[in-house]
Amino acid sequence: MTDLPETMFAVTQTHDGYSGTATGPVIEDASDWLAEAELPLPQAGPGQVLIRMRMASVNPSDLHFIKGEYGQPRVKGAPAGFEGCGEVVAAGQGAEGLMGQRVAFVAAGSGAWAEYVVTQAQMCIPLRPDISDEDGAAQIVNPLTAMAMVDIARSDGDAFVLSAATSQLGKLMCSLGRDLGLKPIALVRRAEAVEPLKELGAEAVLVTTDADVIDQFAALSKDLKPRVFLDAVSDQLSEQIFAAMPNKARWVSYGKLSAEPPRLTQMGQFIFMGKRIEGFWLTQWMMSTPPADQMRVVAEVQARFADGRWKTDVSTHLPLREVVSGLADATKKTDGKIMITP
Ligand SMILES: NC(=O)c1ccc[n+]([C@@H]2O[C@H](COP(=O)([O-])OP(=O)(O)OC[C@H]3O[C@@H](n4cnc5c(N)ncnc54)[C@H](OP(=O)(O)O)[C@@H]3O)[C@@H](O)[C@H]2O)c1
Repeated sequence: MTDLPETMFAVTQTHDGYSGTATGPVIEDASDWLAEAELPLPQAGPGQVLIRMRMASVNPSDLHFIKGEYGQPRVKGAPAGFEGCGEVVAAGQGAEGLMGQRVAFVAAGSGAWAEYVVTQAQMCIPLRPDISDEDGAAQIVNPLTAMAMVDIARSDGDAFVLSAATSQLGKLMCSLGRDLGLKPIALVRRAEAVEPLKELGAEAVLVTTDADVIDQFAALSKDLKPRVFLDAVSDQLSEQIFAAMPNKARWVSYGKLSAEPPRLTQMGQFIFMGKRIEGFWLTQWMMSTPPADQMRVVAEVQARFADGRWKTDVSTHLPLREVVSGLADATKKTDGKIMITP
């Protein structure tokens, strides 16, 4: 076994449980939610592995989580961070097969924003050597969600709508949609994102700050008849887009980037047009999708990153010891992931 230290540096949560607020994934000062700590090295129990972190990503879910606004409660004093990649340096009973491998992981035991992480072996994916650490650290949450949600979209026609299309997930879904012969209609809030998204595969790109964006969308909707709206923003404009979609349209809310609570204005559409609102959460998908199907999706995800059809855009590499002081500023940069390094 590798020589392991007795303690490790970690960025820990400073609150317990839920906050009851819904302020969105924005932070002004990370020290409101996070602290630096030297913790005992976590131990891998049966079915678990200990991973030496090489890189950890910062997703909107991490920010929702540390603020107490995510689907699971915070644990004060435990390391933050859901996703990353690293080497397996110790393995509990039944997980020995992963020893020494470089894996992508979702943390389920102690968080990813630490020098070492404990998680279940089932939450690890061995990485091919041709996958970079940047792609490895963002290999699970967004790519699996992109695969699962584009699958929902293709079950209902060829055109679909997606919001926050400049997000990493939005970009993955645009190019996957194009590759599958679908027509992604992308919503963005910055005009300079229009051309890059068209190049990535969007059939049409609308800028949500245009005064007549709903009229533009209504015209497109009449023509392309999108029946699925994959929505990460979930605000009043989302409701207006949904109201302009054709009969049997589904509003699939999977993120809450905007803090604005939407108000429903067209209740008759649920009665007379068969429209539906629903949610998507990857955690639920993982619990309900048979392991063999998940393995097929995982293999396709790695193939897409390895051959360059997908890539992870990175805005900043942030050392672990600078997370508390530098995370808020790093989140101001747009169009790429913050990657935490040991
Ligand atoms: N439900 C699930 O299972 C699941 C799984 C994975 C991800 N997600 C969700 O998917 C979304 C995207 O995740 P990601 O990791 O791909 O994000 P990301 O790469 O960090 O990008 C976030 C993007 O959101 C845009 N944005 C931020 N606030 C916005 C607002 N108020 N209105 C419109 N756009 C806004 C920004 O656009 P600009 O370029 O204009 O600044 C930025 O490009 C998040 O909501 C995340 O929580 C959900």
